[in-house]
Amino acid sequence: MPDPVEDQPLKGRKLLLGVTGGIAAYKAATLVRLFKKGGADVQVLMTPDAGRFITPLTLGTLSGREVLIEIFPENEDGTWTKHVELGLWADLFVVAPATAQTLARLAHGFSDSMLTATALAARCPMLVCPAMDHDMYLHPATQANLERLRSYGYEVMPPGFGALASGLVGHGRMPEPEEIFARVVEKLGAGDEAARGASLEGKEVLVTAGPTREALDPVRFLTNHSTGSMGFALAEAAARRGARVSLVSGPSALPTPPGVTRVDVVTAEEMHAEVQARKDADLVLMAAAVADFTPETTAASKLKKTGDAMTLRLRPTPDILAALGREKRPGQTLVGFALETDDGLANARRKLERKNLDWIALNNPNEEGAGFGVGTNRVTLLHRSGRTEALPLMPKRALAEAILDRVTASMRAGVPEGT
Ligand code: C5P
Repeated sequence: MPDPVEDQPLKGRKLLLGVTGGIAAYKAATLVRLFKKGGADVQVLMTPDAGRFITPLTLGTLSGREVLIEIFPENEDGTWTKHVELGLWADLFVVAPATAQTLARLAHGFSDSMLTATALAARCPMLVCPAMDHDMYLHPATQANLERLRSYGYEVMPPGFGALASGLVGHGRMPEPEEIFARVVEKLGAGDEAARGASLEGKEVLVTAGPTREALDPVRFLTNHSTGSMGFALAEAAARRGARVSLVSGPSALPTPPGVTRVDVVTAEEMHAEVQARKDADLVLMAAAVADFTPETTAASKLKKTGDAMTLRLRPTPDILAALGREKRPGQTLVGFALETDDGLANARRKLERKNLDWIALNNPNEEGAGFGVGTNRVTLLHRSGRTEALPLMPKRALAEAILDRVTASMRAGVPEGT
């Protein structure tokens, strides 16, 4: 019979396990054992108070890695960016048990221990497992903190109902280690071998990002609310996977991600020209919110107010992605983004076909936590094979990784994904 642990469903996966100072911390030992037996590489981070419930020696021995607690360790080794390295290293960060105190710290962006600092630096999905007394759990402050964490894209595993260490019976029991293990396996997509750490080594990747600006006169322009964050996250993630990445960006205040060649443009026409110059890329991720129309004429001087109504005549801009789709070469992968407020799935599917895309990521800016100017997004990924996958609400950086996992797996397999 298949064994859910011995079959090593977490082989090759890198997990951060945050352990905080609640009585359920004793269960962290079992959790580490399960993760290790499941094949994962586990780094334990403890809050200073967690050591009152379980020793770092126990968890360090079980995980095979030194447990990290303070952001400034006693034995300074001349480095202090471990939180950043770990935040980049992990595939998933689990906090179990998560006390009310740590939830509050995470919700408000504290970085006063290795655990909280790493959580701020982490690009991977987060799974928190609250464990505390019934009334602490139901207190509006804790509930508001959990809500806030959900709005950042954290998944909250609800605590169970039962006997609590306080002697009370109620909500607040940490889920059993086996349940947490099963959720982690689900979250990381067990058996999705091809997606693991999917590399883009040696690939040319072209990403577009941000809005475009279409000038009416020397001081005014038509644009949209795009900040560029989704495209920048994709460019950053692709560069980390070893690709040579060009990022053609409309006006955006975001810093250029490390290792990425950035080309700044203003108008849709300019973006079209820069994309055409790089159209041989192996993978094109077209995340820019390109203006569909531009003024027929741009006034040379500032348009004067006359007191009368004014009519603007607009002409369509080139559809940059459709142009790539028409000339798509074998082996090239094209990914578009569709922002739809109504009838999203049908419209996205039509766009995918009309523009000859391999994938389209659909999002609805009216949904909470999705769209422009927020750190999170929720997309549904549609593949040309007909496969559709609704991804959960996630930070845009985690979403970039999730999208690249799937896209890269289909590129590497060289076969239609999901068939
Ligand atoms: O047709 P629609 O604008 O909704 O399609 C969205 C996708 O097409 C996005 O990937 C966007 O970057 C791309 N697009 C484009 N050129 C345009 C308009 C949109 O490449 N003029």
